[in-house]
Amino acid sequence: MRMNHVFAAAFVAGSILACAPAIAAEPSPEAARGKYLVQITGCNDCHTAGYAMAGGAVAESEWMTGDTLGWRGPWGTTYAPNLRLSAATKSEAEFVTLARSPLRPPMPFFNLRAMTDADVKAIYAYLKHLGPAGKPAPAYLPPGQEPPGPYVTFPAPPPAG
Ligand code: HEC
Repeated sequence: MRMNHVFAAAFVAGSILACAPAIAAEPSPEAARGKYLVQITGCNDCHTAGYAMAGGAVAESEWMTGDTLGWRGPWGTTYAPNLRLSAATKSEAEFVTLARSPLRPPMPFFNLRAMTDADVKAIYAYLKHLGPAGKPAPAYLPPGQEPPGPYVTFPAPPPAG
């Protein structure tokens, strides 16, 4: 009997090691819903490097780690932040507050603001499920400052009136 327990323990330990994926276990139902929301509302398009260009064929372990591609316009140059690091350093309540704040273009903060708290919390749960990875995105640059890396230039807005 004792040997059986030893074998069982070894088997369990072996299975855990064998299955050790880049991302921990199965997502909770809330995190799974967050993943669905992230996919259908286009968060990866900017917050995951190369995602849109690759037709979404980027490993999930890389998702939402931000991008070094700059978005330059009258507002300066912005970079889609690493949201896995954002979630790692913020409470759920802080993340919901952030999701209700105005953010610079091209972040569609108005779409995020239209989400229910439950949906924003589900996205947070998914980011926590993915866990922290990657580096912080470059910091915002004010207008007139030349970005050191690649960037996309937005045309000037049409004249008012
Ligand atoms: C078109 C590109 C684009 C898309 C799509 C996009 N974002 Fe963003 N996001 C950005 C940029 C750029 C910033 C940085 C804005 C700034 O510097 O003010 C940002 C910032 C944020 C922030 C603030 C993070 C922080 O730590 O300050 C959150 C939260 C966020 N985005 C969530 C989302 C979610 C959730 C989605 C999907 C619904 C999404 N974004 C879709 C480009 C995008």
